[in-house]
Amino acid sequence: MGFNRRQFLGAAALAGAATTGLWPGLNSLAAGKTVREFRLTAKAAKINLGRGPSFLALTYNGQVPGPEIRVKEGEIIRVVLTNQLPDGTTIHWHGLPVPNPMDGVPDLTQKAIAPGRTFVYQFEARPAGTYLYHSHVGYQLDQGLYGPLIVEPRRDGRAFDREFTLMLEDWAMVNGGGPMARRRRPPMGRGMMRGMMRGMMRGGGRGAPLLEPVYDGFAINGRVYPATRTLAVKRGDRVRLRLISPSSSTIYDLRLAGHRLTITHVDGQPIRPIKTDVVRIGMGERYDVEFTADNPGAWLLAAREVGWGEGGLRIEVRYQGVRAKTPTPPSFDSNLLFATYYDLRAARPWTPPSGGGRRFYPQLLSWGMHSPYWMINGRVWPRAETLAAARNDSVRLAYANRSPMAHPMHLHGHFFRLVNPKLDRRFWIKKDTIIVNRMQRLDVEFVADNPGQWFHHCHNLYHMVAGMANSLIVK
Ligand code: C2O
Ligand code: CU
Repeated sequence: MGFNRRQFLGAAALAGAATTGLWPGLNSLAAGKTVREFRLTAKAAKINLGRGPSFLALTYNGQVPGPEIRVKEGEIIRVVLTNQLPDGTTIHWHGLPVPNPMDGVPDLTQKAIAPGRTFVYQFEARPAGTYLYHSHVGYQLDQGLYGPLIVEPRRDGRAFDREFTLMLEDWAMVNGGGPMARRRRPPMGRGMMRGMMRGMMRGGGRGAPLLEPVYDGFAINGRVYPATRTLAVKRGDRVRLRLISPSSSTIYDLRLAGHRLTITHVDGQPIRPIKTDVVRIGMGERYDVEFTADNPGAWLLAAREVGWGEGGLRIEVRYQGVRAKTPTPPSFDSNLLFATYYDLRAARPWTPPSGGGRRFYPQLLSWGMHSPYWMINGRVWPRAETLAAARNDSVRLAYANRSPMAHPMHLHGHFFRLVNPKLDRRFWIKKDTIIVNRMQRLDVEFVADNPGQWFHHCHNLYHMVAGMANSLIVK
């Protein structure tokens, strides 16, 4: 397929970056790596989730979720993105530590791609794992601009018979999606609520950030149950599920009826396999789980929405040859195994770095009770702090959540390790997104080894847009 002039100019600009040494990803192209090219067009399209009304969403290539990008570790991903939206857009490769100019944060790592323009993203796919890609402009993520991104290991140590990728999605089924829906308010006491409403009246003029929407379409891979595609298994199968949450404002507790799940990877990174009944997954998180199909029947994998009540996210798992009409739902009230972050251990020990300096950054997560803003250390993006680190410094972020909601905090360009005071440091797990529960204290630590200015924010999209973000400069 030929380049048009604009695409050619884009590619030429990138080649220029490589010769000035700004972009290490491109140099390795010369080393004869395989390049996998994907073409994505961002455009509005009418969609239907198999239940409920058809409505206008934002899509990649006319579908939700966007097409799966699946490559092998070490290959070069090249995405030619054409913007047919009326607004600017970008793509962020959530979780993958790409070179900074490829990170897709508007006004931080690149200018938003203007309507009608094309941009070429290109970077090496490393390390292996389960990721997602999504727009990083405004509320576009909650209007449908996301898709799965899978980097397969060169050799997979784990044997399984079937693998399914499940995107867990919260939809408002109205033209324009989440930002056009009815609003809901954080769960909190009446006094707080009154304060907040007063604030909204005062501050809530034009351009004020939106409260979270009321969702009415909890979908898996773009389908609402029972229109979801049934997962067909055979007795004796080892089944792997790659659970990915592109949801904008919903945390789920997931459970598969009739089976216990084994978590093998968090945010794409291997852990010591651990059994659980319930998997809690926040916005931007990924869990790879496995189960053995040893209990023939028709079962539901279903979620409870944390904090807001019953959600309706579900999908059927059906054994070959089973006749049962209706699948059995999981119960959430018995005595359940619930693996928390602190129960998890890294699959392999690592060597904590020595040498580099140490930085300590307290991150107070709070809420302007009298304003519609969400803050880190009392500041609202873009008038936020800039955290600084020299290359290879160890950086600790000490979160303190002084607000009535959980915040899945996400750092770009790096994996961090969850500081687990009860555990040998060499087994701290690696993640890129971590839920900080209300009134919780929690620390993460990482080596600042990816130069550039990186976005750091709450992955509740409505909190992010309402200011809960800052940035980290690695020099
Ligand atoms: Cu998944 Cu800053 O994003
Ligand atoms: Cu938040």
